Amino acid sequence: MRAEALIGTLVDTAQPSSDINFSQFDMQIATAEYHDPAHQAMERDRLWMRTWQIVCRTDDLAAPGDWIEFRRFDQSYIIVRGKDAVARGFVNACRHRGSMLCKGKGHAPLLTCPYHNWTYGLDGALIAVARPDYSGSLEDFVGSKSGLGLVPVAVASFGGFLFLNPDPAATPLATFLGPAADILAMYRLDEMVPVRINVRETLHCNWKVVMDAFQEGYHVQGVHPELVSMTNMSRERCRFFGDHAVTVVPFDSGDQRASAIEEEVDRYLGMPPEKFTGPAEALPRLAAIRDRYRRADGVFAPPEGATAVSLLQSAMRELLTEKGLDVSGLTDNQMSDNQYWLLFPNVFLQVRAGNALVITAEPHESGDPNRCCWSIMVLRWLKADKRVTARVAQTVVPEGEHAQYFLALEQDYQQMCRQQSGLRNRALSHQRLTRYEPKVAFFHHVLKRWLSTGDEASSLSL
Ligand code: FES
Ligand SMILES: [Fe+2]
Repeated sequence: MRAEALIGTLVDTAQPSSDINFSQFDMQIATAEYHDPAHQAMERDRLWMRTWQIVCRTDDLAAPGDWIEFRRFDQSYIIVRGKDAVARGFVNACRHRGSMLCKGKGHAPLLTCPYHNWTYGLDGALIAVARPDYSGSLEDFVGSKSGLGLVPVAVASFGGFLFLNPDPAATPLATFLGPAADILAMYRLDEMVPVRINVRETLHCNWKVVMDAFQEGYHVQGVHPELVSMTNMSRERCRFFGDHAVTVVPFDSGDQRASAIEEEVDRYLGMPPEKFTGPAEALPRLAAIRDRYRRADGVFAPPEGATAVSLLQSAMRELLTEKGLDVSGLTDNQMSDNQYWLLFPNVFLQVRAGNALVITAEPHESGDPNRCCWSIMVLRWLKADKRVTARVAQTVVPEGEHAQYFLALEQDYQQMCRQQSGLRNRALSHQRLTRYEPKVAFFHHVLKRWLSTGDEASSLSL
């Protein structure tokens, strides 16, 4: 009853991936799109210069005066937290003779150009120039001072991330994300902090190799054999929201027999936590719930209509509520099921109540289509007073070095570099997708639209 009113129901009721109308997609992808410099240049102009992209977590710019540089190819921007706590974006170029103002990240009460010392406020306004005495007043000296503020660029936040869009005519971020933002807002991503992993590293593959790898579970049998028993592709559901998409595989086994409940609960309780990347921390509470429903004569008597997974979902809801996370906006399935989101163009988000894994793939700054950077962040919801101390700062791995990830990510890392090597063979003209890869097909469909004409969302049918 309650779940009917929740927006997460839009994902709960997604159709089986196998029911998708694949005829709307081109199931062949030209390999040149992964290594051709001309294609990369087209992506630069028609995608990256026009789309929303993550800069950092909002709390990376916690205090007024905190700033960070954001680079996309040879374009450079500064995002700075103002005295009014608003984060603003600017083109990273002085209005005098164009020198770059900032490099890296830092903190300053004002932004002063190192060339001739023109100085800007945190709101981008030009407030002082060196040697105004040469020609009288400041205004006389620079002509119209008010017209010489830093060139603004669109910045917005969502889910605890700061996004930037280089396009002066950018669609507002909230509009661009559409229902995806409303669904994801219920997870309180903005109240999560990076824990365990927060790494940025260069990879020897095209950025789309990374995106493709995280849009499908078809490679589990080949790359992650240890996860095969946890993956049931035949039960995957998929839904598209504008340029974004989500897949989800129900956590339950599909066995709804009342007699199977205790057996299934015991199976959950017996699973090693490291393999049970889902709600492992709720297991002690699940055991307590199981015991709650055991009668004096030892017979397990759960409430009418209960299933093993509904008991697990109750355990998760109780646990998170007790911790202080408001999960009232999340459906029961969102307590147990991982949702796998594509936020176009370059964000993969795996989310479940209380936790998320975020992977972004970015083209390499040099413009080399055979390299990219990925950023990986494990997010966890924590009470406000625990966030600052638990938060892990980003580690940037020097190019040529490699971070050690957990097993599945390490396997993906190795595979992605292998795939790029294969894709570079000129005699292989296309990749050929299967019906197990609907989100890969969707991603390339949307990307093709961006690269061809406008960025208006086309209507896609399931
Ligand atoms: S270029 Fe910045 S002050 Fe001259
Ligand atoms: Fe993988």
